Amino acid sequence: MKKLIVANLKMNFTKEEMIDYIKGIKNQISNNFEVVICPSFVYLSMFQNFDYKIGAQDVFYFVQGSYTGEVSPIQLKSLGVSHIIVGHSERRKYFKEDDLLIGKKIKAILKQNIKPIFCVGETLTERQLKKTTNILKNQLLIALKDISKEEIKDIIIAYEPVWAIGSGITPTANQIKEVILYIKKVIMNKYNLEIKVLYGGSVNKENIKSIINLEEVAGLLIGSSSLDPNYFISMLDLIV
Ligand code: 13P
Repeated sequence: MKKLIVANLKMNFTKEEMIDYIKGIKNQISNNFEVVICPSFVYLSMFQNFDYKIGAQDVFYFVQGSYTGEVSPIQLKSLGVSHIIVGHSERRKYFKEDDLLIGKKIKAILKQNIKPIFCVGETLTERQLKKTTNILKNQLLIALKDISKEEIKDIIIAYEPVWAIGSGITPTANQIKEVILYIKKVIMNKYNLEIKVLYGGSVNKENIKSIINLEEVAGLLIGSSSLDPNYFISMLDLIV
């Protein structure tokens, strides 16, 4: 099974910079990986006839209507989006997204046959208070409360410890393994099946090998290290 590499470009690049970025990564990433690039909504239509899959960074849960400023799963589908990141900690923090809202988004994404990349993770304080497993269990079970066994098969979970995002600090390989096994256990208990879990948070050239080599890690969700095509490509070359 190919490992999944997801680049979350977040709110970066002007149009010209995006054109350069697309040129920079074109045909450069090994097809040993399944690659999904997630630019801002406004640039998605620039990715037609692209070598890799494209993803969105968020979505609203209605199909259409009077929801000023929002973007729907069906609109993203019409642009060729195959994956949508949902429940990212930056959405939770800056836009007060909660587990119930995230659950509605997951449901709406699945209706369009798009794969949700559902992010979960604890803050540093929660980890220090030894609440990691409790927090993750709640995030998972609340958002997935209306998701059936048929639907869960198409969901990818991303474990992104909030304290690792953009900080340069990562959990040890053992800590990542422990948490991912826990997430898989929660899903196994509810649905009796295995789910793919990605890791995200300060992945870089120094740590990528030790993380991707973990059997439990189905792939990576990469932020800052995906923004410079040369760095991104040479980082992925280390693990081909
Ligand atoms: P960084 O790789 O910049 O830490 O960001 C991770 C992330 O939030 C990916 O969704």
